[in-house]
Amino acid sequence: MLSVEHVTKTYGKFTALEDISLTFTPGVYGLLAPNGAGKTTLIKMLTTLLFPTKGQILWEGEDIRALGAEYRGLLGYLPQQFGYYPSYTPRQFLRYAAALQCIPKREADGRIDHLLETVGLGDAADKKMKKFSGGMLQRVGIAVAMLNDPKLLILDEPTAGLDPRERVRFRNLIHTLAEDRIVILSTHIVSDIETIAGQIVMFKDHRLYCCDSPARICARFQGRVFQLPAGMPLAPGQFLLSEGQGADGPVLRVLCETPPVNGTPVTPGLEDAFLAIYREEQT
Ligand SMILES: Nc1ncnc2c1ncn2[C@@H]1O[C@H](COP(=O)(O)OP(=O)(O)O)[C@@H](O)[C@H]1O
Ligand SMILES: [Mg+2]
Repeated sequence: MLSVEHVTKTYGKFTALEDISLTFTPGVYGLLAPNGAGKTTLIKMLTTLLFPTKGQILWEGEDIRALGAEYRGLLGYLPQQFGYYPSYTPRQFLRYAAALQCIPKREADGRIDHLLETVGLGDAADKKMKKFSGGMLQRVGIAVAMLNDPKLLILDEPTAGLDPRERVRFRNLIHTLAEDRIVILSTHIVSDIETIAGQIVMFKDHRLYCCDSPARICARFQGRVFQLPAGMPLAPGQFLLSEGQGADGPVLRVLCETPPVNGTPVTPGLEDAFLAIYREEQT
């Protein structure tokens, strides 16, 4: 179990995160918040690249700072910007990464074969990475992060730049990897996470807004999201969430407390919730 206890992080006078408390147990957690909300800051603290200004982070009850290398040994991390050598093949790159982690060669080779299959790169294992798509590179990165069979796998914006097929593949891969480990991934794209994460962590105004299942986050807005035909001015108290195409032409999705006369109630989705939660920032 990983516990974040009353963690605050300041950069000079700027408070990036304030008094965050969270508990992670095996399963998939999505850090979902707009750019600049502090996702990478939290991830860097979870990976000991940064330390909290206040508060502490505990692994099985012990401060990760005190655990040091022991903690890093059970951690797998894919940074937001992942560096690789274009002229290497995935197999060469994984061998290199394994050597850096002092994993014995024979053990590493078996594990590398298995991981390349798991991430769907068995056929591309010996091809140079310079020709790889974003999704293929990202899978190399995940394989590197998985080399030590981590108890805690942390991926910062792993879905950036993936095409729709690569997203589906990623989702399936995360489900495969999430058995018996904590997986924490960050994104600012709602659709990337709503079917992957069991728990969604959101920050607002530098504080924790929620850590809850997608269904329960959506339920907070039940009875408050309506679809209206486009082209009508919004009444006071109606907040525009999004515009889209309905069966009979353009429609608006609005958030409001009183049902609009010409509105149809709709089941709130995670995107509605996201837009509603971060509505101040939108205007
Ligand atoms: N090293 C730093 N020095 C000063 N401010 C920083 C630094 N790193 C991040 N920030 C600021 O902290 C806030 C959170 O950044 P970050 O954690 O990268 O957000 P996210 O990953 O959610 O986009 C931003 O306003 C960013 O400008
Ligand atoms: Mg970030």
